[in-house]
Amino acid sequence: MPIHEIRHPLIRHKLGLMRRADLSTKNFREMAQEVAALLTYEASKDLPLEPHTIEGWCGEVAVEKLAGKKVTVVPILRAGIGMLDGVLSLIPGAKVSVVGIARNEETLQAHTYLERLVGALDQRLALIVDPMLATGGSMVATIDMLKKAGCRNVRALVLVAAPQGIDAVLGKHPDVHIYTASIDSHLNENGYIIPGLGDAGDRIFGTR
Ligand code: PRP
Ligand code: URA
Repeated sequence: MPIHEIRHPLIRHKLGLMRRADLSTKNFREMAQEVAALLTYEASKDLPLEPHTIEGWCGEVAVEKLAGKKVTVVPILRAGIGMLDGVLSLIPGAKVSVVGIARNEETLQAHTYLERLVGALDQRLALIVDPMLATGGSMVATIDMLKKAGCRNVRALVLVAAPQGIDAVLGKHPDVHIYTASIDSHLNENGYIIPGLGDAGDRIFGTR
């Protein structure tokens, strides 16, 4: 199944802290990046390697290095920025493609306002980052955009996913693997994930 709920103790612990309504913006931000790094570790487990020879302290050593074009990380503005550094802490050479999408709070429809993708997407793995997968509209729009630009290898990293969002993504893009710290219960009448984290963008940027 292309849905991976990573039930690592460190992730469970940190996510539990993030659910606290009284957690400070500073701590919420830090934990979003830490959980993003832990999800990255899982999502990069099968990256291809190639053999390589280096000059070591005792002469030549056969080692390995990541093969192919560099990964692109795709934060969905705004809240995806809150996971970007966590991914880059493990994959510092990654290229960053920025996508701006806002969800209309009444209709819940995703509106795209920015598209800045890196080149050679047909040769790259794209790691989309966004803390919340709710109706799935924002994620589906991002995957549509990446595939239209030639990308064939897409993975999504989200802190919390709702079953409805997972169904929406996998219904349209069954080849995309989703890595999440938690599959939560459901969406409320306003399209918020329950129990979720609240408005992730507001909590990361300290707005409201
Ligand atoms: C939030 C969140 C996702 C989207 C999820 O962003 O970060 O991008 O909603 O909802 P969906 O799955 O129903 O599309 P929002 O549109 O609130 O923008 P922000 O990041 O600028 O706060
Ligand atoms: N966006 C958020 O920030 N939180 C949700 O629960 C749903 C969408």
